[in-house]
Amino acid sequence: MTVILTIESTCDETSAAIINDQRQVLGSVVASQEKLHNRFRGVVPEIAARQHVQAILPVIELTLEKANLSIHDIDAVAVANTPGLAGSLLVGLCAAKSIALACDIPLIAINHLHAHVYACRLAAQQDVFPCVGFIVSGGHSNFYRCDDALTFQYLGGTIDDAAGEAFDKVAAMLGLGFPGGPAIGKVALTGDPKSFAYPRPFAKDKKHLKFSFSGLKTAVRYSLFGHAKPILDAASLSPQLIADVAASFQQAVVDCLIAKSLHALDLTKMSTLCVGGGVAANQVFRQQLTEAMKQYGATLWIAPPHLCTDNAVMGAIAIEKYNAGLFEELNLDIVAGLERL
Ligand code: KG4
Ligand code: ZN
Repeated sequence: MTVILTIESTCDETSAAIINDQRQVLGSVVASQEKLHNRFRGVVPEIAARQHVQAILPVIELTLEKANLSIHDIDAVAVANTPGLAGSLLVGLCAAKSIALACDIPLIAINHLHAHVYACRLAAQQDVFPCVGFIVSGGHSNFYRCDDALTFQYLGGTIDDAAGEAFDKVAAMLGLGFPGGPAIGKVALTGDPKSFAYPRPFAKDKKHLKFSFSGLKTAVRYSLFGHAKPILDAASLSPQLIADVAASFQQAVVDCLIAKSLHALDLTKMSTLCVGGGVAANQVFRQQLTEAMKQYGATLWIAPPHLCTDNAVMGAIAIEKYNAGLFEELNLDIVAGLERL
């Protein structure tokens, strides 16, 4: 049986997993840096990279321990080398290269975005390809035509902020802390999603798969603090106003995501949608997308919430590369900004 160690350090989670060729997870660990970045209301790249250096070896050791394996039992090591924060990516890559060299095993490169889609394949426990892959995360809101597990073609995505970025920035305006997505989802439960008529950019334009969430952020800001005095003082906002703004903002984002998901299926004439990435953990999005796909008549796979946010388990896509003999030389580099491939 083939056993692969996967490493994920693209942003602010240090994670490792051990997966076998039956796509079973033998061990996995995610060390989140949330607490370190919370007071900055966003990820600080320098802090993230330094924390990965601290965490990477204990995380790998604990993963091996959980799987009851030694490093010498591993047949290949895989690492997400694109896209992400340069300093963060380098830590995972150096660890993976060291293991490949020391154990004389193949090195496999993982595209973090493709891995987010592959989380659906893992959860489905059946083939999900061909499909439209939709990554909706803190850094990306992208559609791909996925003819098989290793063939991804970029179809379109955000022209400014990603959906998760908008969640994080609006949460900061509302004084809700970081990461903003789960916090907004929670307070929105007691809010009225119809109380503010925020824009749904491009939602009615069926010709392309673009998103734009930057203006939506500005609309929220103006609705809270007006045009003349944009003083960001969340302490002056009532709990009901915060809940109403959160619910209205969340609904605006969800409407855009669902509209474009339908357009993507129309444009590609595909009948399966696979959704991954941190924002796909959002309960309102999951419920409404499930309903929309049922009405449309398409098959929907959404990664389970614990595989939506960053993790090394979704690096199981490395099994496909292993089977195809797609290995890297030890001079493999990171590519921080490679968003579309
Ligand atoms: O996939 P991910 O962990 O990291 C990236 O690859 O970017 O996504 C993180 C993003 C953050 O912006 C976070 O606020 C958002 O996902 N997020 C959510 C939820 N959980 C995480 N957004 C909306 N609702 C959630 N429940
Ligand atoms: Zn991610």
